[in-house]
Amino acid sequence: MESYHIRGGNKISGEYSVKGAKNAALPILAATILCGAECQLSNIPQITDVNSMKKILNELGCKTDTSEETVIVDSSELVADTISLKRMREMRSSVFLLGALLGRCGSAVISQPGGCNIGSRPIDLHLHALRMLGTEITEKDDVIICKASKLRGAVIEFSFPSVGATENAIMAAATAEGHTILKNCAMEPEICDLQNFLNSCGADIHGSGTKTIHINGNSALHGGNHRIIPDRIECGTYLVAAAATGGEIVVKNAESLHLKSILEKLIETGCTVGVKRDRIYLKACEKLTALDKLITGPYPEFPTDLQSPFLTMLTLAEGKSYVEETIFENRFAFANELKRMGADLLVEDNHAFVTGVKELQGCRVAATDLRGGASLAIAGLMAQGETFIEGIEHIERGYADFSQTLRSLGADIRKTND
Ligand code: UD1
Repeated sequence: MESYHIRGGNKISGEYSVKGAKNAALPILAATILCGAECQLSNIPQITDVNSMKKILNELGCKTDTSEETVIVDSSELVADTISLKRMREMRSSVFLLGALLGRCGSAVISQPGGCNIGSRPIDLHLHALRMLGTEITEKDDVIICKASKLRGAVIEFSFPSVGATENAIMAAATAEGHTILKNCAMEPEICDLQNFLNSCGADIHGSGTKTIHINGNSALHGGNHRIIPDRIECGTYLVAAAATGGEIVVKNAESLHLKSILEKLIETGCTVGVKRDRIYLKACEKLTALDKLITGPYPEFPTDLQSPFLTMLTLAEGKSYVEETIFENRFAFANELKRMGADLLVEDNHAFVTGVKELQGCRVAATDLRGGASLAIAGLMAQGETFIEGIEHIERGYADFSQTLRSLGADIRKTND
């Protein structure tokens, strides 16, 4: 089994060019099915979740051709509408195939998706939106069978602004007959990216990035070219790694507008932050200051995906911090590993109370989810001595060349096979 072996104490410093956003690339790869033609996507991150999505597309009959960070998908010939249980379990984003397949051929058979162990993660909001658009859904054991003789536009109000449900509804409505209005939508930048991709293929969607999205269905989409937006979560992870280790970093190819809540919190901890065009500069301060309140929420609030790296950084900040998780109930699971490294942490339900300590000590820890896993690597960089991280397949689902990148920024990290 592969693991990371980290010797702590080095600063994370230097320059890094941020990759394309995982959470934009995955729904957009799925959405190429709607086009029935060749689509060229650039700035696709080379991560295992993208490989899993490409395998699903291949099993459905799409041809994919990858050259570094460019992927060409030709979806002109679909041969199946069913995603195997194995693929569904590999990653949660397999659920995006639902809206895409329904929009393309009016049927889809999936099972409950897998993904990170960060909470119960139901898909009721996805299914509700698809039903409103005219899909008949039968759930039997773990299998979900969806059929729509004709998708028709509808007015759909989400009870919670779910990112994935908003994206699935956009995909199904893009080729439906008539006009769809989606209300109380999630406003994440990755949803705007999906809209922009589909519009470049002939769709008529507007309003993404606001609470209300309007879609005029067009059953004749065509191929297109699209560049995926930069990954704000990956960018934030490396900024935190620098802040937590006393480093100085320039992240290139970033979109700082997408990182507003994150940069504000980094400044609050005492870091110096500067933005110039697509570059974000961060210089850590001598001793980080605790945060009175860090509360996650739907965009533009503080992203749940960066809660774990921030919580990790705060274990060495001066004073007491309070962190509240409002999106996923198990996001604090990794905090037990931080405690084993010497962090002073009290977790009660979705609240974490952190008292800064002088140092963390390296030990053997296990990653059980993507962002928590990356955070344990940051903890290893902050700690005295050696840290071994197991379960690194979780980290590599979402970070391209994670250990090489950290090493190029000064970390003493090796991937070992033990
Ligand atoms: C997406 C991101 C993930 C991020 C999350 C929140 C992708 C591929 N993943 O996940 O990295 O952490 O947004 O920003 O884009 N919910 C329901 N029923 C549903 C759907 C969601 O109750 O049908 C709940 C979830 O359990 C959770 C909340 O809504 O408590 C938010 O989930 P959602 O916004 O859907 O997250 P994902 O799309 O899964």
